[in-house]
Amino acid sequence: MCYAIPAKLVEIDGRYGIVDYFGERRKILLDEDEVAIGDYLFAQGGVFVKKIPDEEAEEILDTWKDIFFELKKVDQSLSKIDKDKVSENVLAVLQKVNHRKSLKLEELKTLFSMKDPKELSVLYEVANHVRERSHGNACCVHGIIEFSNYCNNNCHYCGIRKDRDIPRFRMSEDEIVAIAKEAVDVHGFKALVLQSGEDFHFDTDALIRIVTRVRALGTLVFVSVGMRSRETYEKLWKAGARGVLMRFESSNEECFNTLRPGTSFRARIALLEELRKMGYVIATGFILGLPGETLDDVINNILLTKQLGPDMYSFGPLIPTKGTPLENEKMPTVEDVLKVTAVARLNDANANILVTTALETMSKEARKEGMMAGANSMMINLTPSGCKAMYSIYDDRAGVEDEVSSAIGEAVDLLTSLGRAPTDIGIARGV
Ligand code: 5AD
Ligand code: SF4
Repeated sequence: MCYAIPAKLVEIDGRYGIVDYFGERRKILLDEDEVAIGDYLFAQGGVFVKKIPDEEAEEILDTWKDIFFELKKVDQSLSKIDKDKVSENVLAVLQKVNHRKSLKLEELKTLFSMKDPKELSVLYEVANHVRERSHGNACCVHGIIEFSNYCNNNCHYCGIRKDRDIPRFRMSEDEIVAIAKEAVDVHGFKALVLQSGEDFHFDTDALIRIVTRVRALGTLVFVSVGMRSRETYEKLWKAGARGVLMRFESSNEECFNTLRPGTSFRARIALLEELRKMGYVIATGFILGLPGETLDDVINNILLTKQLGPDMYSFGPLIPTKGTPLENEKMPTVEDVLKVTAVARLNDANANILVTTALETMSKEARKEGMMAGANSMMINLTPSGCKAMYSIYDDRAGVEDEVSSAIGEAVDLLTSLGRAPTDIGIARGV
């Protein structure tokens, strides 16, 4: 099984390169001296992962060739728009999107005011169309390994917060590397996220060792280990990490500071900005439906995500979780999340937008609906089921029971039915 399509390097421009696969062109961060024009390579999240011998690449491309164009046809037929169903003011906003003009605050509000199911279906269709226009049928499929549920923090929403009395686990470094090795060698993953609570038992040296070993397996490494120092992240970059998954959780400073006691909104944003400057590929976003949230907050969340220049948006609904201060809060609806997905897509055509597990937890169909409302990425949880059950950031997480191979099978079936190919190659299209 292979989760990326080999691409041919056709141009080199400093640290960047242009790759081509089946006529689609993408810009990638090359960051590598050992490659030359004409080489085949794998890239993920817009970053070079590894070179592939010509023969192997040509063989993989050959198996992909027919299926790629077949999938594209399915995808294109699913992303046609029926404009007759919308009111004039909504149509005016959607036409602006169509002409690739950026939207004003009032226009974003108009989109959020849509309630009629027929109108909403057009909103999702347009978002899906914008997604298709910018990304083709490319879809990133990253694997995630949750290696420790110890956490130093007490975020009000989170089921593994420090004060919650739950069984805790930490994997050994060898265990983490063994799971990553199987993901790369057996399942063909090209990008892995290593996630934990903010667990300082894994100090900088331990993280360096893990990142070095996982990177050596031939995969893009994302870390999701919380607020570490700038120096730590610099060292992790040197060890081979190229991505960071870190949500800013809420663009409302007061809300952030209340719900994450002892941490600061400004420090988090400053760190995200630093990380981007260091060159990291950023995945960031927010929780939807935190207490007291207004429509302005939701829109600011979308705008702040874009402002941080991420490669990938990661946002999901609050799942009120027993034994946390937010256990009695109201959960947003699937429709709320789909609207945010669609508006985020209309506001940022180029970014990858993830369908998160929290959305999948809301309903069986939600992942597909998210993918049809502008999203183009998903993550597959590779944590063994015992640990996955303990990584209980919220109640009844989707997929806790699933074996990895069945989770992969389901994801591939879904992608195939939607005409999407797991091609995650670049940061922008048509460059
Ligand atoms: N509901 C939804 N998302 C949550 N997270 C933590 N707790 C919850 C919850 N109850 C999210 C946070 C964190 C990510 C790892 O999980 O956004 O960044
Ligand atoms: Fe820890 Fe993250 Fe949960 Fe906050 S959200 S308690 S930092 S695991």
